[in-house]
Amino acid sequence: MIESNREDVLIEVKKFYEKTPFPNYSEFYDVATLIDKARKSIFIKSLNDEIPFGAKILEAGCGTGQLSNYLSVGHGMVVGTDISMNSLVLAQDFKENFGLSRAHFLQMNIFRPCFRAESFDVVVSNGVLHHTSDPKEGLRILATLTRKSGYLVIGLYHRFGRLMTDLRRLIYQYYSGRLTFLDHRLSRLNEKQRRAWFLDQYRNPHESKHTIKEVCGWLEEFDLVFRKSIPGNYFGSLTDGGTSLFKKNRMGGTYESTLVELSFAFRRSQIQEGGFFVVIAQKT
Ligand SMILES: C[S@@+](CC[C@H](N)C(=O)[O-])C[C@H]1O[C@@H](n2cnc3c(N)ncnc32)[C@H](O)[C@@H]1O
Repeated sequence: MIESNREDVLIEVKKFYEKTPFPNYSEFYDVATLIDKARKSIFIKSLNDEIPFGAKILEAGCGTGQLSNYLSVGHGMVVGTDISMNSLVLAQDFKENFGLSRAHFLQMNIFRPCFRAESFDVVVSNGVLHHTSDPKEGLRILATLTRKSGYLVIGLYHRFGRLMTDLRRLIYQYYSGRLTFLDHRLSRLNEKQRRAWFLDQYRNPHESKHTIKEVCGWLEEFDLVFRKSIPGNYFGSLTDGGTSLFKKNRMGGTYESTLVELSFAFRRSQIQEGGFFVVIAQKT
C-alpha cells in the first residue's frame, strides 16, 4: 500500500515538473545574472561562501539547476539530480552555454539513489522532499549519501509558515490568474518564471508541511546532529540565519519553539517566502 502510494505521488509529481520545469530561466539569464540573484539571498550566499572549495556537493532535486550551476562556479564538484528530464535539460544547457565544467546533471529519484554511501561532503535538497510521499525516508536516504562529519541542508515547507500560501491558493481557485498582487513574487518575475512559480505554489499535485521540531526528531533517529535552522525556532533568532551555517546553534525548547514556529504564519523574512524553512544537520 505504501509502495503504491509512493509510486502514485512520484508519477504525478514527475509529470507536473516535466510540464513545469522549476524555477526556469529568463531569456537574458547568464552567469552574471545567476551570481547576482544568488548573492541577493543571504542563505544561498552563506552556503556558497561557507562550503570549502574542494567539497563534493550533491543537490538532490535541483530543478533547472540554478543552485548547482551557481555553486559550481566556486567549488570543486557539484552534482545536480532530479526526476524531471525537462528541468535537467535546461540545467545542462545553461552549464554548457557558460562552460560550467564542474557542474554535472543526471536523472535520479531520491528513493533510488545511484551513488555509493557517503559519496558527498555536503548534500542539499531545497524544496523537494515535501513533494514526495515520505519526506522522512527521503531525508534518511540523503543522510546515507553524506560522508561522516559531512552536512545535510534540507529545505521544506513549514506547517504554519505556509498558511498564507494556503489562503492564497484558495482565493486563486476562484480568481485564477487574477489578483496576482497577493503574491509579491509574481510581480518580480519574467513570464516563464512567473508561470512556473504560480503553478509550483498553487497548482502542485502534492505537498506536505512540517515543523522544525518534527525534523529535529527525524535527525535524532538517523544519528544526525542538528546545527542550525533558518529561521531559528528560539526567541530572538535571526530570521534569515546570518552567516555560520554550519556552526552549532541553539534549538528552541518545546514551548518556545511552538510559539516561535506559530509566529511563522505572520513573519515574512527572505527565506520564508512561500512558507519555507531550512534545517542544517551534521552526520556523526
Ligand atoms: C519546487 S522544485 C525545487 C527545485 C530546486 N531545488 C529549487 O529550489 O529551485 C522541486 C523539484 O523536486 C523534484 N523532485 C520531486 N520528487 C523527486 C524525487 N523523488 N526525486 C528527485 N527529484 C524529485 C522535482 O522534479 C522538482 O524539480
